Amino acid sequence: MSVSPLARLLAERIREHGPITVADYMAAALGHPEHGYYMGRDPFGRGGDFTTAPEISQMFGEIVGLWCVVVWQMMGQPGRVVLVELGPGRGTLMSDILRAAATVPAFGKAAEIHLVETSPTLRARQRETLKGVEVAWHERFEQVPDGPLLLVANELFDALPIRQYEKRQGLWHERLIGLDTAGGLAFVLGPEAGPDVAPGVRDAPDGSLAEVCEAGRALAAALADRIARHGGAALIIDYGPAASAPGDSLQAVRSHQYHPVLETPGEADLTAHVDFQALAESARTARVWGPLAQGELLMRLGITARAGILARSGGPEVVADVTRQLRRLIDPAEMGTLFKTLAITHPALPPPPGFERLS
Ligand SMILES: C[S@@+](CC[C@H](N)C(=O)[O-])C[C@H]1O[C@@H](n2cnc3c(N)ncnc32)[C@H](O)[C@@H]1O
Repeated sequence: MSVSPLARLLAERIREHGPITVADYMAAALGHPEHGYYMGRDPFGRGGDFTTAPEISQMFGEIVGLWCVVVWQMMGQPGRVVLVELGPGRGTLMSDILRAAATVPAFGKAAEIHLVETSPTLRARQRETLKGVEVAWHERFEQVPDGPLLLVANELFDALPIRQYEKRQGLWHERLIGLDTAGGLAFVLGPEAGPDVAPGVRDAPDGSLAEVCEAGRALAAALADRIARHGGAALIIDYGPAASAPGDSLQAVRSHQYHPVLETPGEADLTAHVDFQALAESARTARVWGPLAQGELLMRLGITARAGILARSGGPEVVADVTRQLRRLIDPAEMGTLFKTLAITHPALPPPPGFERLS
């Protein structure tokens, strides 16, 4: 088994200071300045490790772009709106948002674009994709200037570090990462600790795992607070259950295949399911809509009609491509149901597009 440079560094740290939390491990695996997964690579697409919705089809970003325009109109068309994307990857989603939104030129004039991105490599990629567009980059959401907000985050929350807990003989203990007898990284049971989770998770039977994403909850609370003070809305899209549930969702993916979680930190993507119930509860200073399945939202917002128009623009190959892309985005067996969407809005706004009827 090959050992990554980050695995060696973490093993050294554990030998000196003792086991680390799963959150510490995840933060290092993804964000270590030198060896972190996102720091030095573009992981998207067929030759990479995974593909996201905006990379599957332009339809995704176009629909999200029109959602932003309609919410801006509901906000009374402010002359300045802070348009933010958290974790913009290659910049594809923002590029598609802006192209679709160009149908309403006043929106383009009002939108001040801010990207929150920790990876220098992906910032460079975003600069290329968004050439000619005035963009400001930030390390953290808190650095984005105040003002009426329109914010989009696709597959960002799943990258935020989680802590894990395991129930043994009726008591919860934190699950930590220590060393096995051969000196390799291994899960170990930490001291007794009561996780801050929903009652249905807390009362789960022995052997259950519970997960808490403190960074995700804090970010949802910060977004809601900003929206309550300055107006606007946020659309969060990610994968995970609508209601908090026990279970181990920590997963590593490399070259589109699942990979052992502790094997090569820094060289495989590492994510956890997003607990939408916990996010919704953290965002209560504003109004929360959903979660609604991604496929349902996209269909309500007209993706099938958009696919029809795109398919008619080319020959049989285009029809086959668009049909395949549509299926990946909306089919319950693909991204349609596992992926959820959650909207956070200012309490004075009407229901945001697609969330009028919640099922
Ligand atoms: C899975 S990618 C999603 C990219 C894009 N939203 C898309 O849908 O294609 C995660 C993105 O979030 C960025 N990222 C990861 N952790 C972050 C953090 N703590 N703050 C800001 N960006 C982060 C990554 O560098 C990457 O751009």
